Formats: sequence, C-alpha cells, structure tokens
Amino acid sequence: MDKRHHIDKTPARLDFIQSLTGFILALFISGHILFESSILISNDAMYAMTRFFEGYYFFGESHPVIISFLATAVLLIIIIHALIALRKFPSNYKQYKSIKNHIQSLNHHDTSLWAIQVITGFAMFFLASVHLYTMITLPNHIGPYASSDRVAGGMMWPLYLMLLFSVITHAGVGLYRLILKWGFFEAKEQKCMKQRRALLRIIMYLIITFYLLVGIFALAKYMNIGYEHNYKTGERYHPAGVSK
Ligand code: HEM
Repeated sequence: MDKRHHIDKTPARLDFIQSLTGFILALFISGHILFESSILISNDAMYAMTRFFEGYYFFGESHPVIISFLATAVLLIIIIHALIALRKFPSNYKQYKSIKNHIQSLNHHDTSLWAIQVITGFAMFFLASVHLYTMITLPNHIGPYASSDRVAGGMMWPLYLMLLFSVITHAGVGLYRLILKWGFFEAKEQKCMKQRRALLRIIMYLIITFYLLVGIFALAKYMNIGYEHNYKTGERYHPAGVSK
C-alpha cells in the first residue's frame, strides 16, 4: 500500500469514544439526579429507590455491592472520557493566553462553551472523585437518614453544590456540542442553521435550569432531614412496619 495515502484514524476514533462516553455519562447523570431526588417525594420513596438499586426487588434481599460495581464502572468511564479530553486542554500559559484572547476577540458562543467544558471538567477531577470513592467504599450507607447525615453532619453539601453546578453545566453543554458535532440538527441553509442553533441553545439552557433546580431542592431536603436527625446520627431509616 502507498504510505502517502495512509490516513491516521486515531484522532477520529478518540473523538468518537469521547462522544460515546460523554453521552453515556450524560444519560447516567440525568437518571441519577431524578433518582436521588426521590427524597423530594418522601423518605419512603428514596428508601424504595435505594433498595431497588441494591437488587432487593430481584433477589429478595439487598446487595449493596451492586452499587460499588456500578460506581466503579462509572468511574472507569469517567477516566476514559477525561483521558481523551486531556489532549484538548491548553497545556501551557502561552496557549492559554492565546485561547483567552481568541475567545474575547470573537466573543463566540461556542468557543466560550468550550472554555466552560474545560473549567467544569477540571473541577470534576477532584469533586467527582471524592463522591465516587464514598459510593464505592460505603454502598451500604445510602438512604434517607444515612445520605442526609452525610450531606449535613458530614459536611458534604458544599462539595455536592459545586459538583451539581459543574456536572449539570458540563453535561448540558456537552450534549449541545455533541448534537452540533455529529450534525443531528443540521439545516441546508446557513440562515436556518443559525436559527436552529439558537433554538438548541434555548433547549440546553432550559434543561440545565431544570436539573439545577431539582438538584438544589433535593440537596436542601437532605440538609433539612440531616439537621433534624442530627441528634440521632447513625440511626437508619425504616418505613413503618419494616424492621430491617
Ligand atoms: C454509581 C455511582 C453513583 C452513586 C451510587 C451515587 C449516589 C448518590 C447519592 C445516594 C446521593 C445522595 C447524597 C448521598 O447519599 O451522599 C448523591 C448525590 C449527588 N451525586 Fe451521586 N452517585 C454516583 C455517581 C455520581 C457522579 C458520577 C456524579 C457527578 C459527576 C454525581 C453527582 C452527584 C451530585 C451533584 C449529588 C448532589 C445531588 C443534589 O444536589 O441533589 N454522582 N449521589
């Protein structure tokens, strides 16, 4: 084969893997926020959700180790996603300056969105690791009281608040860029394309706002339960009539 015609497919493959892992993580977090906000419905609803993920309704008994496996799998996907993303981070001050000037001079929406991805992505290296480590090592400490004790008395709420803003923005902006990148929202005419982009951006802002509000309310509820339950830290929640 003529070597001159050999095209390196690696960057395209890496791009695809990054999109795929990003998509899986976005699906995961949209489910996650809704599931853990079951606390907004009632303690019993969050208790039932926890039991469900422990496999109670399949095996007739709880296996928290399932949560450890799930959390380890999520961590691995995050590591792959982040490793591939690393190559797009500005790697020295000069590069950073030129990107900053570029963003300011163009004031281009989509370039600023890229900067948001770099900043929130970087923050999550630290924020998400702390949370996932807890979920992997203490999967049996999840529930209306156990989670609330962690959020309030365990002082996890500041971390969760920062993580919530980072992950929701990152996932929302990421999905928007993914849709544009793979041309799911394409129009033939340039003018139509501009309108569609604007529409897509509005949808993205609405989704981000929705998930942020749900997340903030759920966090407030965990804090409320945690502070009320403060004098009995360590006690586990059981619905009426359930002793274990
Ligand atoms: C399988 C892995 C995971 C499990 C089992 C899990 C479980 C939970 C649970 C039970 C809570 C309630 C608070 C607590 O118990 O400490 C929570 C809160 C939270 N988790 Fe996760 N989580 C996982 C992965 C992630 C990941 C990968 C992210 C983001 C990168 C994330 C972001 C958050 C945020 C932002 C909150 C606070 C929610 C709020 O503001 O309402 N979680 N998680």
